[in-house]
Amino acid sequence: AFLFSMYFIVLFRIYNSLRGGGGAGAGNGPGKLANLSELPVARFEDIQGVDTAKFEVMELVDTLRNPGKYAILGARAPKGLLLEGPPGTGKTLLARATAAAAGVPLLYCSGSDFVEMFVGRGAARVRKTFERAAKYAPCLIFIDELDALGKARDSGGMGFRSNDEAEQTLNQLLACMDGIVEGNKKKQICVMAATNRKDVLDPALLRPGRFDRIVRLELPDAAGREAILRVHAKKLPGFQEGKGIDDKRAGFLSFGVGSVVDLGAIAAATPGLSGADLEFIVNEAAIRAVRRVSAQLREEESSSSLSSSSSTNTTPPRVTAQDFEASVQDFFRSRRKKNFGGGDLLSVFK
Ligand SMILES: Nc1ncnc2c1ncn2[C@@H]1O[C@H](COP(=O)(O)OP(=O)(O)OP(=O)(O)O)[C@@H](O)[C@H]1O
Ligand SMILES: [Mg+2]
Repeated sequence: AFLFSMYFIVLFRIYNSLRGGGGAGAGNGPGKLANLSELPVARFEDIQGVDTAKFEVMELVDTLRNPGKYAILGARAPKGLLLEGPPGTGKTLLARATAAAAGVPLLYCSGSDFVEMFVGRGAARVRKTFERAAKYAPCLIFIDELDALGKARDSGGMGFRSNDEAEQTLNQLLACMDGIVEGNKKKQICVMAATNRKDVLDPALLRPGRFDRIVRLELPDAAGREAILRVHAKKLPGFQEGKGIDDKRAGFLSFGVGSVVDLGAIAAATPGLSGADLEFIVNEAAIRAVRRVSAQLREEESSSSLSSSSSTNTTPPRVTAQDFEASVQDFFRSRRKKNFGGGDLLSVFK
């Protein structure tokens, strides 16, 4: 009997630790309170090519901070705002920037924080998150990857009955979005969410009064891509931007001369790429530069040990236009099978 009860205690411990997982304090429900220490900071200036979305988000924040301004004309703050768009267009990034700039607390959670195995658990987590938010009101809740919990209720999928737990969780979310009432006073809580699969969301989530504002983030156009590249390239030490084509490299798609890089040219050659893709390209270019420089150093070392002359090369290493060329080329090569918008450009890289 003793062993038996020990067994239960251990099980209970494991269960509890599972429940408390994801950095949530006991009894608080999931969601990181996004003060600057809990969520990596981003700045609004660093998000480019999605100006409408930025504006909508700022307006939402404004309704929370200055409710009086809206009440004068009889407007009430929107309940929810849904950011929708392809992967890597900056939805999570926008949440991070909002957390830093909003001036109201933002509780950041991911849809999967609410996905639970036991019926009723997920719903309880939703309730706790909203109760916690009510304490900080006016307050923003951000639910990333909303599709993880907001799937349409009757889409059981493959003929199975839809799962009770998921349904309860979603119902709880719908109820909470209708307003947390505490002492006859509706709390000012606004829910922002992000998804790249709006089509699978339950229609009840999208009706006015819930996520009534839907903002689509599109893949950036050429100007947007150039601006995004600039944001990320600026972080490279000694980065130089300029125009120009390297005469010595005729026949190649040239992105500049030496360490002077033409970001406009890169943007023009990368249609269909997302912000995340562009960040990746900049980083790959930097990695190539490191590879090149360390190979050079090795060479110099071995030659200087022969001639014992000190190195004359004192210019600091830079990421060059050619590093960018190779990076873009590799990007398209490794994803050739996925039909990118830039498919016809591939011929240039042959
Ligand atoms: N508009 C943008 N401006 C600048 N950088 C961007 C932009 N969009 C994406 N990035 C870069 O790509 C990274 C990933 O973007 P983010 O995580 O916001 O994508 P997401 O829209 O949330 O994608 P998913 O739908 O897959 O979650 C960002 O951290 C940022 O560095
Ligand atoms: Mg995201």
